Amino acid sequence: MFAIKFNDHILVGVKHENRFATDTERAQGRRLLPPTPPNVNRCVAAEILDKVERKEGAVKTLVYDSKFQNIKQLFALICETQKYSAVLQDIITTTKLLKATKLRINLAKLLVYDLLIGQGLKCGGSWKTMMMKHRSRLQAALARIKVKKKVSRNQDLLSESSQQIAGAQLPRYVRVNTLKTTLEDVIDYLKREGFSYHGRAGRMEDLHNFSGKTFVSDLHIPDLLVFPPKKDFHTHFLYQAGHIILQDKASCLPAYLLNPRSGAQVLDACAAPGNKTSHLAAIMHNKGKLFAFDLDAKRLSTMNTLLLRAGVTCQQLANQDFLKVNPDGPEYSKVENILLDPSCSGSGMVCLQGSCSEPQEEAGRLQALAAFQLRCLNHALRFPSLQRLVYSTCSVHTQENEEVVAACLQQNKGYRLVPLLPEWPERGLPPLTQCLRASPAKTLTHGFFVAMLERRGPREQEADTQTPAPTSDPTSGVTCADGPQVEAQASGTTERKRRNKKKNRAKAEGK
Ligand SMILES: C[S@@+](CC[C@H](N)C(=O)[O-])C[C@H]1O[C@@H](n2cnc3c(N)ncnc32)[C@H](O)[C@@H]1O
Repeated sequence: MFAIKFNDHILVGVKHENRFATDTERAQGRRLLPPTPPNVNRCVAAEILDKVERKEGAVKTLVYDSKFQNIKQLFALICETQKYSAVLQDIITTTKLLKATKLRINLAKLLVYDLLIGQGLKCGGSWKTMMMKHRSRLQAALARIKVKKKVSRNQDLLSESSQQIAGAQLPRYVRVNTLKTTLEDVIDYLKREGFSYHGRAGRMEDLHNFSGKTFVSDLHIPDLLVFPPKKDFHTHFLYQAGHIILQDKASCLPAYLLNPRSGAQVLDACAAPGNKTSHLAAIMHNKGKLFAFDLDAKRLSTMNTLLLRAGVTCQQLANQDFLKVNPDGPEYSKVENILLDPSCSGSGMVCLQGSCSEPQEEAGRLQALAAFQLRCLNHALRFPSLQRLVYSTCSVHTQENEEVVAACLQQNKGYRLVPLLPEWPERGLPPLTQCLRASPAKTLTHGFFVAMLERRGPREQEADTQTPAPTSDPTSGVTCADGPQVEAQASGTTERKRRNKKKNRAKAEGK
């Protein structure tokens, strides 16, 4: 088994069975790891795309589960094909390629992508012969689409958002694992390796105006270093020894904002593969207790390895459905902080953008996800000693973000939203501007959403039932879903006044 990190994800796979390569190598007893045959590669990719369409899982999970030899390559191939999906579909439809070749749609998309957009056909044998037979028709179809759209480059055929993403080169973010080292030591180590440290960034622009072996510290998140895009640390000693963690900046927000005290009892509801859990442990200095749940045994086992490497010792992992955890269980009676980062559409992940399925299917999927997320939130708020909860998703959809939080606050009047980081460049959509959003364009990160809910004091709750609702001021800390809530209460008051007036009038009229 091996594990690699890809952006914010741990991807785990099983290495190809060792095989003898040539007679000489056999004689020498040398074993070689053969490169994956391109046809196998495309078959696995097509199967994953089929499964994504059947809603059997998210791309990253399916890639991870495929146990494919080169997971990173497979992930990139699938993402690229998805990005151009609409164009590929158009070409395949107009050339009637499926009828002519009997290929399945996703395999056809992968092969057409290779032939017309990627680096040429990688497959061999009968597929290559077949595709070459249709090459000129396919090329002509692509040319016609470009003429119709008045563009000359393939890239210009992508939707505006996908183009931004194709060109988006997010910085490489490196979180220093303070359980094992310090920010200063990592900076010194890298300087000795020839890197040049430019100090703490003062503005967002400082995070992408550098290249080569330069780096800065982030302006929002402590212990976070920022390098030029694509800087690869996977084989670096500091990474392999667990001194640094490769984690997108937006994904550092939940633990940083929850900020549990050292010694606290904290619960991470949907925890694997555990980057946020290890961040929480670092903030708690490994003191206290960190309950971490995940439904997926494989992801949890990866998480176990990751936490071990990161030096986390305060955790208690459980392969359990969070919705079945009893909030009134005596072991959870002192849980005061919860981090809830549930499964979501993943639409904020840069490489998954521009790859939506049919609008109707997409709507159904989002509805199901939002219902699950709301159940998780409502369940989390039942823990008796809970003070603060952070809810996060890597989704850009309002349905999974602001709408889930607003619905939850409607159903849990004992909680309010906490206004987060005033200096952060992107806010939740009004009226939930206390929350944060993140995106490649505004925050140089993957798309992300974070909300923090806080229990209201008993007096405050009491006062709330007696006095008129506060106006929706995003900086007051009591607004929460007060947008809709305030409206409802206000209209309730108006309705009462109207009824009283009517009653008085009736009385006066002697009715
Ligand atoms: C977005 S990922 C969590 C990422 C994680 N917080 C991190 O930072 O590494 C969502 C996780 O929720 C898990 N999950 C889904 N439904 C669950 C449930 N009912 N109970 C517990 N975990 C669940 C999935 O297996 C998946 O690992």
